[in-house]
Amino acid sequence: MSETNQIWTVAGSEPAPIGVVGAGIMGAGIAQVAAQAGHAVKLLDVREGAAAAAIASIAKALDGLVLKGRMEAGTREAVLARLSPATATAELADAALVIEVIVEKLEPKQALLRELDALLAPGAIIATNTSSISVTALANGMKNPARLVGMHFFNPVPLMKLVEVVWGAETEPGVAQAIYELAKRWGKTPVHAKSTPGFIVNRIARPYYAETLALLLEQAGTPAELDRALRGAGFRMGPCELMDLIGHDTNYLVTQSVYEANFGDKRYMPSLVQKALVDGGRLGRKVGKGFYEGVPAAPVDAAVEGVELPPISVVGRGALVERLADWLAHKGLSFSRGESADWAGLQLGELQLHLTMGHSAAELAHQRKHPELGVMDWPVAPDRADALALAFAPQASEAARAQVAALWRRLGWQPLVLRDVPGLAVARTVAMLVNEGADAVWQGVCDEQGADLAMKLGVNYPAGPFEWLALLGAPMVATLLDGLFIAYRSERYRVSPLLQQQRWRTASY
Ligand SMILES: NC(=O)c1ccc[n+]([C@@H]2O[C@H](COP(=O)([O-])OP(=O)(O)OC[C@H]3O[C@@H](n4cnc5c(N)ncnc54)[C@H](O)[C@@H]3O)[C@@H](O)[C@H]2O)c1
Repeated sequence: MSETNQIWTVAGSEPAPIGVVGAGIMGAGIAQVAAQAGHAVKLLDVREGAAAAAIASIAKALDGLVLKGRMEAGTREAVLARLSPATATAELADAALVIEVIVEKLEPKQALLRELDALLAPGAIIATNTSSISVTALANGMKNPARLVGMHFFNPVPLMKLVEVVWGAETEPGVAQAIYELAKRWGKTPVHAKSTPGFIVNRIARPYYAETLALLLEQAGTPAELDRALRGAGFRMGPCELMDLIGHDTNYLVTQSVYEANFGDKRYMPSLVQKALVDGGRLGRKVGKGFYEGVPAAPVDAAVEGVELPPISVVGRGALVERLADWLAHKGLSFSRGESADWAGLQLGELQLHLTMGHSAAELAHQRKHPELGVMDWPVAPDRADALALAFAPQASEAARAQVAALWRRLGWQPLVLRDVPGLAVARTVAMLVNEGADAVWQGVCDEQGADLAMKLGVNYPAGPFEWLALLGAPMVATLLDGLFIAYRSERYRVSPLLQQQRWRTASY
């Protein structure tokens, strides 16, 4: 029997026995999911009583399911009967799979993995739930490194669908595939990932925080304004409130680890804003203060009564222009079309409101010798947005600004007037998420579908990077990034080769 065939018994009709080492928050969740899928699970922890406490917490969780009518009382008993605490590693010898879920440190993990490698039958798989350590490094020192694979669950394990199946340099493809199939049997959605810093989710998500932190450093807007802008693009939580929830200490550590693991690549550089929060103990919700302390004050709306709208023209082409036109029509506003212009956005009387392409309004006004000019953020979800960011050139008149505010109200949006920074909020964030996803695929970390699934299931994004790319097109994303690259003279905004290729492929001759 080949090792891979033996491994299949893990997910076969008679689920094979499993060991889980580390009975903390993640270990308990993994043990619960495995036992619910029919496996006998032995749970081991160095802390005395931790495994028994984890089983007691699982019993409580199952009680909740029974109470809500989502589980039969008999099933609860059967699941609990499959769970038992172990007191020594030797008791896991008959397991077909052992999942390592201990403290996130290289040395203790390596020591445990070597011990398991020496103990388990040759066909057994060893998985690690590490969230940031290289699977390749963890396998170093094992006699059979081919059987180690990452099985990265998300918290809370029973609810979160995503499992990143992470293969290191030595992982046998059959081992990764067996764990992929097993995760599916457990009701999860697995995606394959190459072991690189942050795997898929923790890597592609970096710009969601980083761009907002960069905007805060530049005083482009307040946390409440930037959160509102991003929620307007369909994200469930804005970056600041999300960082408050995750905890700035945790988020800062992940950022630092990805930055250092990439040898100081500026793209992943942590922010002074984040460091100041950590240094000052403003760690977020768990201590009652972070970006927010209590409930943020509601924004004060400028008065727009009595402002008459000038003639409106929807200018240019592309998916966002169409979304804008549809939304204007939906709101009963009449407008003309100006498709042949060399820019895209809205014309309101004399005022040109350009969809941002990574240039400040001041720069565009200067280049075009047209002082009545502003830039607007990308309306990727106009129907869901209650706010959309914009910025004006310094010479734009008060009357034109008031007209935009009045139009925004008619469109159901709060006018979020930011400092005149290139790329505003949604555009630069979405473009950088797309770019990071593109680089992950270009470097063989995952495929396009895996990137989309991971971001939607792992962090609840409203769309995956490649879905946004399909909407916006590579030329638009790459042009915006070029604008940021030039504005900041920063390698951070370098365009992924994958986007460059698509951009030239879609360019018309
Ligand atoms: N918490 C999350 O959101 C999350 C998400 C994905 C992955 N992870 C990863 O899962 C792992 C565990 O995280 P957690 O949040 O459950 O931590 P935790 O602190 O809740 O649990 C870790 C448990 O491991 C035990 N332990 C430590 N060293 C041990 C050893 N040598 N042998 C046996 N038991 C040992 C500890 O006593 C503790 O009970 C880490 O690698 C972490 O990075 C965590």
